[in-house]
Amino acid sequence: MKDAAPQTFYLSDYTPPAFLIDEVSLTFRLAPEATRVISRIHFVPNPDTTDRSFFLHGEQLKLISAKIDGHDANPTLTPHGLTAEVPDHEFTWEAEVEISPATNTALEGLYMSNGMYCTQCEAEGFRKITYYPDRPDVMAPFHVRIEGDLPVLLSNGNPVDQGEGWAEWSDPWPKPAYLFALVAGDLRATSGTFTTRSGNEVALNLWVRPGDEGKTEFGLQALKDSMKWDEDVYGREYDLDLFNIVAVHDFNMGAMENKGLNIFNSSAVLASPETSTDANFERIEGIIAHEYFHNWTGNRITCRDWFQLCLKEGLTVFRDQQFTSDMRSEPVKRISDVLMLRARQFREDAGPLAHNVRPESYQEINNFYTATVYEKGAEVIGMLYRLVGETDYYRALDMYFQRHDGQACTIEDWIAVFEDATGRDLTQFKRWYTQAGTPHLTVTEEWVNGTYNLYFKQETKPTPGQPDKQPLVIPIAVGLLAHDGSEIVPTTLLEMTEAEQTFSFDGLTERPIPSILREFSAPVVLHRDTNNQERAFLLAHDTDPFNKWEAGRALAKDVLVRMITKGTKPDTGFLDALRQMALDDTQDPAFRALAMALPSQDDIAQTLYASGVTPDPMAIYGAVKTLSRAIAEHMKDDLPALLAANTVTEPYLPNAEQSGKRALANTALSLLSKLDNGAAAQAQYDAADNMTQQLSALSCLIRAGAGADALAKFEQQWHGDRLVMDKWFGLQVMLAEPEDAAQVAQTLTERADFDMKNPNRFRAVFGALAGNPAGFHHPSGDGYRTMADWLIKLDTVNPQTTARMCSAFDTWKRYDADRQAMIRDQLERIAAKPDLSRDVTEMVERIMAA
Ligand code: BES
Ligand code: ZN
Repeated sequence: MKDAAPQTFYLSDYTPPAFLIDEVSLTFRLAPEATRVISRIHFVPNPDTTDRSFFLHGEQLKLISAKIDGHDANPTLTPHGLTAEVPDHEFTWEAEVEISPATNTALEGLYMSNGMYCTQCEAEGFRKITYYPDRPDVMAPFHVRIEGDLPVLLSNGNPVDQGEGWAEWSDPWPKPAYLFALVAGDLRATSGTFTTRSGNEVALNLWVRPGDEGKTEFGLQALKDSMKWDEDVYGREYDLDLFNIVAVHDFNMGAMENKGLNIFNSSAVLASPETSTDANFERIEGIIAHEYFHNWTGNRITCRDWFQLCLKEGLTVFRDQQFTSDMRSEPVKRISDVLMLRARQFREDAGPLAHNVRPESYQEINNFYTATVYEKGAEVIGMLYRLVGETDYYRALDMYFQRHDGQACTIEDWIAVFEDATGRDLTQFKRWYTQAGTPHLTVTEEWVNGTYNLYFKQETKPTPGQPDKQPLVIPIAVGLLAHDGSEIVPTTLLEMTEAEQTFSFDGLTERPIPSILREFSAPVVLHRDTNNQERAFLLAHDTDPFNKWEAGRALAKDVLVRMITKGTKPDTGFLDALRQMALDDTQDPAFRALAMALPSQDDIAQTLYASGVTPDPMAIYGAVKTLSRAIAEHMKDDLPALLAANTVTEPYLPNAEQSGKRALANTALSLLSKLDNGAAAQAQYDAADNMTQQLSALSCLIRAGAGADALAKFEQQWHGDRLVMDKWFGLQVMLAEPEDAAQVAQTLTERADFDMKNPNRFRAVFGALAGNPAGFHHPSGDGYRTMADWLIKLDTVNPQTTARMCSAFDTWKRYDADRQAMIRDQLERIAAKPDLSRDVTEMVERIMAA
């Protein structure tokens, strides 16, 4: 329901809770449309405040009864909870409420998915389960009783007792309500054990619906690998005797770290070679690690309030990135992370939704689970790591766990630990948390008598509500190369703190070629006036793998930008350099695949806009197509051999080695398909025994205009598997010709198996429409209209997922007047929807304010 005046919450308004809780007992009497929740909560006055007002959050609850110390509480109900007169000493609150999980399509609180009950409480979903101080700084041990006629009844912590139709659980670790979870249904477990380094045996279960048992093995192994890694690298052991993971089909996000009972979107945990791609396997491994790592960074040490979200999310993303880079390839992981950062976070930071890593206000906190909080939050920790060095980083982390275990903390606590552990003053560094926008770093060079000067200038453009920007601490990793490719100065970390600053290197015998921002040592946009000869040199010789890749990327961008703005032809220098890289067997195939991939259409649009050019999505689409074709023709004679050499013939394994080869083989296949009308792709499609090869062959066939037959076969083979069918839905929209994309999406929604209540299916279609820039931004305006039509429909069903998808429109100021006017019309149409959710209201207002 739309609030008359949606409330804005401010970081500066924080006050400690009036009451703390030392014990919670909950009883659930499950029934699809009338579940009873009986709560018994022991409140104690908070000694840290004199405030004694009593407020409990509660939304969409039917209050049956409420008592304080056994007497009627006579609460006053407010739109978002209740207040009551309470004693000025400890007391017991007892309440009974009724809720309706079966009609809860928002998927927040207690809801039903495919016949099972499950919960999602982060960030503020617990208030839809019962009246409670639903804020992360109120932590308590929970005792839970579940009554329901279902075979499996789960909650957090350890099982206490169970019988026919009931089970009791107890979680000894005090936790905020957002980590509460309950699951009930007909579920099957794949089980294992993990013995911690201090000898405790932990029982592990991965619970799925009947039929999905064949997709659990990989996830269970990833969990064991994560538990071991966190012990080896961070010295963190698991702290219960049981760890449950449950897969659910209807879930707004990827997964959730509820204490001892993680709940996963089935797409983020279920995997098999036949149904999952290499990319799916890698993502699943990373998400399982991420949620597991939260047990320490999030659960044992949680956030004081939701403004501190990056305290747990930025750190946990940093940790899962480290994990993946240890399990797989460090350079490949870094390049993939930077690609994602630029695609999502730089885009966000350059538009109307730009905000601090630690936001200062919000209307709906769900709108702040963003690339900025997550990915930039992780980059900020990466910079700290580089600045203080590995040893001090882990010393600081030990201090953090020791000092703050069991607490609800702030970014100030986090920074203080690093200051105390290293003796550094991090006052200026902290600006990374309090200043939005991506810094632009310009570098120029000077060579005078054996001294080489690098002159840097940093500048951050204004962002909404923040016109003036201060200089940041920027760690710049630099290496200097000689013209024979040898390293004159190995990687050195420069610490820039001023708006403009020069760094000198003395005693050099030749003017070096600089390799700047190695490893992508800071989340900035680097500008350097250079030429393609030097870029080609770095692509061939840079000893830093990230910058080697980056040189190739810069070359490709330069070629594309000139094709688009000047109408030039793809130049042979670039094509030669790319070919050389592709055929260089000394390089990791995964790296070569990344180096051959062209910048995304959105990345090109972002680059053009940043340089003052209005991007034309159709022209970008055309240029990418032309360049791909030119690459294919240039490598015509090499492609069959490249494909053959990298085609894996051993039994499928989702490891880095095999998936790297498949990635390179599939790059070759997609180029080849531009020349052979899809013949090689058809052969691969027919022979494929794993989803990576099947799906890439299908993509090539669709792109070659020869996909109809394979699409039909694919549907016939996989119509019973929702996760695979999501790929089928998505691919058709993603690869549709620009003029057809909106209609393809619309037509898919008319199928019986398009269910807008399922976020995965909705995202498969409309996430793909947003991900087809020339289709979405087609001059007809059909992309915008179709997207808005469906966001309006989905808002009533699921505000959280609708709001997240509004970001499709967040780049609108980049485009020409016609497109801007069409987008504005659609945003206004969304804004005018009666009873528009708070979530979407906030997003549309922020986007339009630009
Ligand atoms: N705590 C979040 C899940 C969450 C997000 C709950 C937003 C409620 C609102 C979880 O730890 C998370 O971050 N999940 C990510 C995946 C992760 C690998 C970055 C997700 O769900 O996308
Ligand atoms: Zn997380």
